[in-house]
Amino acid sequence: MKRIAIFASGSGSNAENIANYFKGNDNVEISLIVANNPQAYVIERAKRLNIPCKVVTKAEFMAADTILDMMKEYQIDLIVLAGFLLLVPEKLINAYPARIVNIHPALLPKHGGKGMYGDRVHRAVVESGDSESGITIHLIDADYDKGTTFFQAKCPVLPTDTPDDVAAKVHALEYEHFPHVIDEILQQLN
Ligand code: GAR
Repeated sequence: MKRIAIFASGSGSNAENIANYFKGNDNVEISLIVANNPQAYVIERAKRLNIPCKVVTKAEFMAADTILDMMKEYQIDLIVLAGFLLLVPEKLINAYPARIVNIHPALLPKHGGKGMYGDRVHRAVVESGDSESGITIHLIDADYDKGTTFFQAKCPVLPTDTPDDVAAKVHALEYEHFPHVIDEILQQLN
């Protein structure tokens, strides 16, 4: 059995989609959801999905010890960042080498880095006049939105598209691909 912890800061629609994908799978369990914001809608989703959920403060997260204790308690094999906006502390990266996966809603290395999340990314894509966007699924490195890229998928951006239009296309790609890519990454773990 492989155990996944999902970290999320906001709505958590990807977290829910991943949980639904693995429901009934005897080899994979979404064992824990971690939120860093007590108002995050992902907390409601976790309740509905019957998945344990912990809320941590930014200070607790940055200090890493509380999180590391949780990972040990739930015997977590893989950490999935699904719309998680805090920088992952080095202590956690060192404890989970090549075992922290992030999704970014654009084609990295474009439109990545500090402060680039959610709608800000889609606005930047439209403002740059890009003709395509997409998703990047990558392993986390000490640097934000960097690290080995595992998977990318693209969608067209039309000159008439608004940031919301781009967001809808990118979300569709996330829902289609993030769960099976996580599955592939899990299969490579020993
Ligand atoms: C997703 O689009 C994800 O790619 C993005 O936040 C959204 C969260 O949506 N992540 C980043 O921008 C990270 N830099 P969700 O909470 O509904 O899953």
